[in-house]
Amino acid sequence: MPVNYDQAVSFYDATRGYRDGVVERYREALLDVTGMDASARFLELGIGSGLIAQAFYPFARSYVGIDFSLGMMRLIRGKLAGDRRPLLAQADARYLPFVAGSFDIVHAVRVFHHLLNWRACIDEARRLLGNGGALVIVEMIPPAGAGRPPWALVQDRWDEILRGLGVSSDEGRDQGIWLTDDAMRQYIEATGGRADVLDLLRYLEKPVSPRIMVERRAAGMFSSDWRLPEAIHQEASRALRDWLERDCEAPDDMVEREMLFRALIARW
Ligand SMILES: C[S@@+](CC[C@H](N)C(=O)[O-])C[C@H]1O[C@@H](n2cnc3c(N)ncnc32)[C@H](O)[C@@H]1O
Repeated sequence: MPVNYDQAVSFYDATRGYRDGVVERYREALLDVTGMDASARFLELGIGSGLIAQAFYPFARSYVGIDFSLGMMRLIRGKLAGDRRPLLAQADARYLPFVAGSFDIVHAVRVFHHLLNWRACIDEARRLLGNGGALVIVEMIPPAGAGRPPWALVQDRWDEILRGLGVSSDEGRDQGIWLTDDAMRQYIEATGGRADVLDLLRYLEKPVSPRIMVERRAAGMFSSDWRLPEAIHQEASRALRDWLERDCEAPDDMVEREMLFRALIARW
């Protein structure tokens, strides 16, 4: 079963939103590397709540977004401004209801690591691209050499606790579907395309503290939590809170992390 983001509707924007100006900088970097402008026909795979789309649709000639989650797409209403509207469809990125060659840019931000059958999604994106079009797959990663913020310890501790309870904290990574650039690049080249991997832009996330991260874990705000049995999640959350109170240094220090938009750009 694909991951169900309907359960993230109440907290997604508050926990995954960007600082002001970041998505506009992403838009400019994307246009720059693809050589496109506002006349391009955009398709966003996994548009979610429109955090990325909101920097595009007010200025793009046409902006189409698809997602599995109707709940997430409903959040886009609150972000509409001006006359232009994105066109939305509930669809699976593997099977899209559009005619071949309909788009100049197909992009997906923070989506491909969720896709069980990512090759089929790449095939479908390729079908939809017109001549000279580009598929842009973006994930956020920490830049090489960046220090780890203190709250990253919460993730380490959570992984350890789950291991102690006999559960893996990241099923995707265990199955080898946490994608590497190399795996995607090889596939794109095998299908006659060219793939370039580049760092589009660096940015600062909103600041968080270890306590905030612990409470997000306990509230099940990470997609890897959603497949855990309730009893395991509760027991792990108790252990994590105990660790916070007993052993975590500076549990309330608010620290921002530097991240980057890493993009794989494919053309055929
Ligand atoms: C982490 S969210 C990212 C949303 C948005 N791109 C952003 O950056 O805020 C991942 C989104 O991808 C959607 N998604 C995951 N797999 C999908 C699939 N196979 N087809 C369509 N949407 C999918 C989820 O429903 C979710 O809204």
